Amino acid sequence: MTSPTELTQEARNILTGNDRGGYTVPNGRVYPFQWNWDSVFVALGFATFDRDRAWTEIETLFDGQWDDGFMPHIIFWKDDDGYFPGSAIWGTNKDPKSSGITQPPVAATAIRWLYETAKTDDEKARASALYPKVLAWHRWFHEYRDPLGKGLVLSSHPWEGGRDNSPEWDAPAAQVDVSRVDPYVRRDTSHLDQSMRPTKLDYDRYLALVQFGREAGWNHDVIARENPFRMIDVGLTMILIRANKDLYALAKALGRDKDAEELRARIDLSEDGVNWLWNDDIGSFCSRDVISEKSSAMVTSASFLAFYAGVGSDVQRQRQLENLKRVSKAATYMVPSFDPEHEAFDSIRYWRGPSWAIVNFMVATGLREVGEEAWAEKVRLDNQKMMEKSGFYEAYCPIEGSGTGGDDFTWTAAMWLLWAAPDAPGVSNL
Ligand code: DGY
Repeated sequence: MTSPTELTQEARNILTGNDRGGYTVPNGRVYPFQWNWDSVFVALGFATFDRDRAWTEIETLFDGQWDDGFMPHIIFWKDDDGYFPGSAIWGTNKDPKSSGITQPPVAATAIRWLYETAKTDDEKARASALYPKVLAWHRWFHEYRDPLGKGLVLSSHPWEGGRDNSPEWDAPAAQVDVSRVDPYVRRDTSHLDQSMRPTKLDYDRYLALVQFGREAGWNHDVIARENPFRMIDVGLTMILIRANKDLYALAKALGRDKDAEELRARIDLSEDGVNWLWNDDIGSFCSRDVISEKSSAMVTSASFLAFYAGVGSDVQRQRQLENLKRVSKAATYMVPSFDPEHEAFDSIRYWRGPSWAIVNFMVATGLREVGEEAWAEKVRLDNQKMMEKSGFYEAYCPIEGSGTGGDDFTWTAAMWLLWAAPDAPGVSNL
């Protein structure tokens, strides 16, 4: 087995090797562009050995922001035909070229951590310069993605929440008409084992949704009202609540009291609103369909982000912990992305079971903050073991700990450096 010191060197090499000059790619072959939430987690990895580069990663990301505050999930800084769908399929006509959907808003949280551990005034100035851009993005969520007015987040595409083929989307995505999808050739399956990727039917639906957005001119009003897939995503929602709390703290620190008030009101709204996602039958927060109003009634790793968001009553928290315990009995390595006792569980197929370090890091952060230190540490050590056993993969089989998806994966290497390594600093000691 590779020693922790060697792994740390390897992880740094992955970050610097996947650096394309101001931004990193998640994996050079499979994902050759800048991805939104990947970059933010990677910035936290850089922060363990090169803080200047950490800030640059986030700054470059925000160079792709649209005028209305929207932040795309991919920025196509350079053309590369190793990935499908490329910029022409998205057809957003932006400069820099970008996709038309967003991704989990983790930036505010990372910027707060970097700000609070800043070593120089220059770092604080970089945080202040980013602050209004992040606020504009959060306002965009509020304006275009809260159709119920409850402070919850609408996802218009399974890629927006980042958990592409989670079984949570099977029923709602089945309503998407795929009959008009133009013929296409996938690139992911030429780089990776098909059994670890979404199916052809999943891709037809992904493409139909891209087509809908493109034909709507990426008008976010139209998308919020008429898009054929409109889920309140539990992961996106919990991450935004947490991010609003961190942005609130930043607003206070920067003397932006009016913004802080606005954020406080939004946090209060969401803390109440999350009850719309609570499924009492299974004792879990779950995603819920805006169109059918049906709860997915499925436990996923995103359900456990309620701890990270700091929401839920004592009873809800206890019931979520019961689920966590149950899941941990069925999985060797916490936290599987999907309930291992559910019939749709698949230990190697992307978000239908594999364990993802970035979500696990957020779950562990939340567990620690609510005083569940033993659980937080178990999650951390399980991730450490998977990385020691298999190296830095996109995700891992939660039963065997073997790697799934792409190798030399930037955000997983970043999570080793920040959190999972035996001597990792963690966010408060960066
Ligand atoms: C992909 O292409 O697999 C991505 O998850 C979309 O962002």
